[in-house]
Amino acid sequence: MNILAIETSCDETAASIVDINQNNITVKSSVISSQVHLHAQWGGVVPNLAAREHTKNMIPVLTETFTTAHAQKDNIDLIAVTHGPGLIPALLSGVSTAKSLAYIWRKPLIGIHHIEGHIYANWIENSRQIAFPVLALVVSGGHTQLVLMHDHCTYEIIGQTQDDAVGEAFDKVARLLALGYPGGPIISERAQKFEDSGQKNDITLPRPMENSGDYNFSFSGIKTAVLYLVNEYRKKAELKNNDHLPQDFIDATAHAFQRSVVEVLTKKTLKAAKQYNIKTIVLAGGVSANMQLRENLKKQINKQFPDVFFSTPPIAYCLDNAAMIAVAAYYRYKTLSKNDIVKLFDGWKSVNAKANRPLNILTK
Ligand code: KG4
Ligand code: ZN
Repeated sequence: MNILAIETSCDETAASIVDINQNNITVKSSVISSQVHLHAQWGGVVPNLAAREHTKNMIPVLTETFTTAHAQKDNIDLIAVTHGPGLIPALLSGVSTAKSLAYIWRKPLIGIHHIEGHIYANWIENSRQIAFPVLALVVSGGHTQLVLMHDHCTYEIIGQTQDDAVGEAFDKVARLLALGYPGGPIISERAQKFEDSGQKNDITLPRPMENSGDYNFSFSGIKTAVLYLVNEYRKKAELKNNDHLPQDFIDATAHAFQRSVVEVLTKKTLKAAKQYNIKTIVLAGGVSANMQLRENLKKQINKQFPDVFFSTPPIAYCLDNAAMIAVAAYYRYKTLSKNDIVKLFDGWKSVNAKANRPLNILTK
């Protein structure tokens, strides 16, 4: 079946057409219009500005999605849209568009949870290798969770951050180091530069909740430790307000921060994998693009659990995109009864955007 998906939960206007039959998944088109440069000047996403841009970009993005896929409305069997969590003005743009199309074209419409989409980005290339029970390490700008899945579309959150999300911590530390927004890619680049220099890193940052005995996380403490480190450095080096921090200090701090975060995430993921007899570990969310995290998890999983399959999403589907929403929609559609499938034709009335939609309400 061909699924048209729309994703506008934050600052990317995305649409995709995916052809899925059983485990054969073909992304026919995936178009993403990013607003990241627009928001960079504000140091973060401005919701109303995001909504205005989504409205401006939606039709061109949809047109390109259909053209690239060589598809027309008659080829579409199901429409899927991200219905939360996210920024309400941004979500409303995608949801309103999807509802209008579903009504005019008389198509079934399904609402998909954003994090569910990130998790299912793993199925795009690895649908044949992924076996249940699955443990998902969700690391994005708004979420950090360990999610247990005993079957498709069932989610049990076994641990989560008590304060900042990992991506948020990357972004805040980047701001403290005056590296700009978004922080993840640039911190990771700077950390790699330090690694390549072969130097020993003398900076040690805390690893909060590393031995807490549960699967929860905390990242605001590392961020505060970086703040103290920067202030102390500025004082010692007698830097004035407008003076820049030296590049080598920035690189070493980025490296120490990333190392702390990666170690805590890896340790808790492996502990949970053991307790729940996991067959597959999947990495999900924007921070899954982080090479150090991917490599460290892979190394430790291969070493400690050689029989566990480790899946990472293809780089093109790590950050927000609509192909992942289409894939999640397919597996959810397959769990529905005939009656529930008929109800999807009322989706233009019933699907609604919700800013704080929790993932665990979907637990069967
Ligand atoms: O999943 P995503 O695109 O949006 C949300 O659902 O939040 O994730 C965005 C987050 C940002 O915080 C960004 O800094 C982070 O993902 N990110 C990274 C990398 N690329 C993006 N963090 C670490 N390393 C990266 N390479
Ligand atoms: Zn996301």
